[in-house]
Amino acid sequence: MARRLNTVLEHVKPSGRDTEDHEHLKQHLLIQSLAAQMHLSKDRLKEMALYMLHEMHHGLEPNNSSTLRMLPSFVYKADPDRSAGVVYALDLGGSNFRVIRMELAKGTVLSRRAHKAKIPETIIAGGTQTQLFDFIADTILIATKKFGRAEEAREALRLGFTFSFPTQQHAINSGSLIRWTKQFKVSGTEGNDVVRLLSDAFSRKKIGFRIVALCNDTVGTLIARFLNDSTAMSGVILGTGSNACYWEKNSRILKCREAQSKPGDGEMVINMEFGNFDSAKMVVLPATKYDNELDAESENAGAQRLEKMISGKYLGEIARRVIVDFAKLNVLPNALADRLKAPYSFESRFVGTCFADRHPGLPDTHDVFKREYDIDIAHEGHRRILRTICRLVSNRAAQLAGMAIAAVLLKRNAQADATVAVDGSVFEKQPYFRKCMREAISAVLGDAEGVRLVLTTDGSGIGAGCIAALQE
Ligand code: GLC
Repeated sequence: MARRLNTVLEHVKPSGRDTEDHEHLKQHLLIQSLAAQMHLSKDRLKEMALYMLHEMHHGLEPNNSSTLRMLPSFVYKADPDRSAGVVYALDLGGSNFRVIRMELAKGTVLSRRAHKAKIPETIIAGGTQTQLFDFIADTILIATKKFGRAEEAREALRLGFTFSFPTQQHAINSGSLIRWTKQFKVSGTEGNDVVRLLSDAFSRKKIGFRIVALCNDTVGTLIARFLNDSTAMSGVILGTGSNACYWEKNSRILKCREAQSKPGDGEMVINMEFGNFDSAKMVVLPATKYDNELDAESENAGAQRLEKMISGKYLGEIARRVIVDFAKLNVLPNALADRLKAPYSFESRFVGTCFADRHPGLPDTHDVFKREYDIDIAHEGHRRILRTICRLVSNRAAQLAGMAIAAVLLKRNAQADATVAVDGSVFEKQPYFRKCMREAISAVLGDAEGVRLVLTTDGSGIGAGCIAALQE
């Protein structure tokens, strides 16, 4: 059905002489075609979850070719009560970078202060590793001063480093960046140990901190929740990027010698890097031509295909591509094709605003286009199409995120009683995202009453601090 409609879509060419009836029919067909490609049936979701389970199993084996990296974190289930003292945490994973100072006793966070800085776009999109890590070190010096603790930067305090990119860890405090994601492009970093690069910058700037832990943001989020909730099974980020981690039995992590050698039935957190799911062959992912074009023009073509359908970095861009296409086909005002022609010029938060617009006449949708692009979308029919595009893009993202969470719970047979700690702007700020995710989880699991999705704000940094506070 989707393919047939897609063919029709290809043939519906723009024409200035369309009658009103003709135009309605065209609009209807285009929306139908998009909906057919974007909506995921229960069976489709189950099929994807099954394939994800397969890739999870496979990814835990040595020398595998799974699209899920299933990276060992070297964070074991430990008694969180042991975490104590003053620690610092760094949170690097998107355009904002944070420095956090925490004081812990018996696994409880007694005090916390944070300083946020925007990483210059020139560094993110083409800087060098020295520029990036010097920026981090300089920001630490600014933060400690702001906290009234400038002297602490010279001390050998423990530091946890949340580095939210696919990183092959060799130990709790070392790991090499496999490949940048989320449109980062900083030279001299891929293939190198990011802890070493950071400690080199510390030496240059005379910072005394000891980097005792390196972790992914999903891992930090899970641990932040696990401190007070032993049912926390998975940590999920739905923000600029998307990913999940979960507790896996040491005995199942066949590719990690250290985990295999642990006595008893302990568990370690595995960073799935689910954003890359099915990227090799696109066996189950529902890619439209918009997804394929977005991917082809991205910094990491052929990789992170699931992430490119779910995350804040990309949702606005998918919607923009659809809107521009529809405008060129004359079913939306032509001016949109021009005003929205720059890639990434339609932000993901606008997708959320338009989708959430339930007022008669869709005034919020009108406002977004007037305020941001100076276009007056005068016809309500056009506003309705714009809203539908945003709804379809956002719904599909939520369905895919729900499907992935369901697969994780199935892997651990935890569907009857589990907390999933979630953070990220897409989950937090996009209305209806959570509801749609829950529906997808139920579609796969049948019954999802025992699954709790808990917003764990700032968990990535807090968790890194906690992990650091558990180290010597
Ligand atoms: C990207 C990164 C991953 C991170 C996620 C969320 O997918 O590769 O490591 O967890 O974004 O920030």
